[in-house]
Amino acid sequence: MFASRATHVELSGIRKMFEAAPPGAINLGLGEPDFQPPAHILDALEHAVRTGMNKYGPTGGLPELRAAVAERLSKYAPVKPDQVLITTGATEGLASAMQTLVDRGDEVLTPDPGFVLFAPHITLANGTPVFYRVRKEDEFQPRIEELNELVTSKTKAIIVNSPANPTGGVLDRNAIKEIVALAEDNDLLIISDEVYEPFVYEGRHETFLGRYDKVVYVNSFSKIFSMTGWRLGYVAAPPEIIKNLAKISYYLIACPPTPTQVAVLAGLRGPQDFVTKMVNEFGKRREIVVDALNRIKGLDCPWPKGAFYVFPSFDFDLTSEALAMKILAAGVICTPGSAFGPGGEGHLRLSYANSRENLVKGIGLLAGVAESLA
Ligand SMILES: Cc1ncc(COP(=O)(O)O)c(C=O)c1O
Repeated sequence: MFASRATHVELSGIRKMFEAAPPGAINLGLGEPDFQPPAHILDALEHAVRTGMNKYGPTGGLPELRAAVAERLSKYAPVKPDQVLITTGATEGLASAMQTLVDRGDEVLTPDPGFVLFAPHITLANGTPVFYRVRKEDEFQPRIEELNELVTSKTKAIIVNSPANPTGGVLDRNAIKEIVALAEDNDLLIISDEVYEPFVYEGRHETFLGRYDKVVYVNSFSKIFSMTGWRLGYVAAPPEIIKNLAKISYYLIACPPTPTQVAVLAGLRGPQDFVTKMVNEFGKRREIVVDALNRIKGLDCPWPKGAFYVFPSFDFDLTSEALAMKILAAGVICTPGSAFGPGGEGHLRLSYANSRENLVKGIGLLAGVAESLA
């Protein structure tokens, strides 16, 4: 009954754990900040829906919002409003990008371990995901010689994600330079997912935007304004790519939601101290979590430089899925590393976007499971 594309992708490992969770479990599995969006954004949303902003809008997004995003991005590179597409989250930005740019038989390089959407979206566009490894001992920077070996005449694009989910890795300036050179040499598109842009705790965020003329830059308001349920993101790319992305986006979503766009516009124009406070709080939680995990025998947790995940490795004799299930039975949701690709096996991903109290309690329960296995 089902089309092959529906059977060629599996339910995401993150969702699987979430759906198997007992009531009251501490959720260290989901990647969403535990804050309310700032009050001025909530007020703007309420005002928008009460004053009739409840209709379809333009496919590419409200012109004022496209202009505000272009202005925001001008700190990185000169970007005009016709180089911006508003999307229903980075999820739709990625899906539209793949549907617009990847053809049957095209190969797309994608990180392993890497975010759960990347490979399935390549597959759904009839392309072939080709995994490149990122490793703890390299601080999760790809090895450029390995990337070079993976490029073939069919390679169309490379996906990069910094700060990264699930590893917390942040690409440094040199890695970006090398990846851009590889793309230039082989005429590849760079699809750069930078949704964790403000969440950097060591060093600073380096962008791909403006470094090369075939960059498709994907970002989102989900994390920065703590509004994962509002479903708004954006893509920046050359006008010709944006025009074609908008065409595909229309057939997928018609248009991004109007009221949340109005509210986000207020967010971009208003004070940004909410973001600074949130990132500072995550910085403190990161210290609590890494310290606590490294005290557990059998776990080794590198310091993530960005995003809000830790990605400890373990040396117990079971798969990451079996370990995550045991931890779930103890009352804590986390994600098995294998959900992020074969290179994630032997790891767990925990999100520290939860209260300090829940983090301490959750890691205490996890320590109990580890003790029982030692
Ligand atoms: C790396 C990465 N890209 C994209 C997304 C999807 O974001 P959005 O809520 O904007 O669809 C996520 C969500 O967790 C993510 O971790």
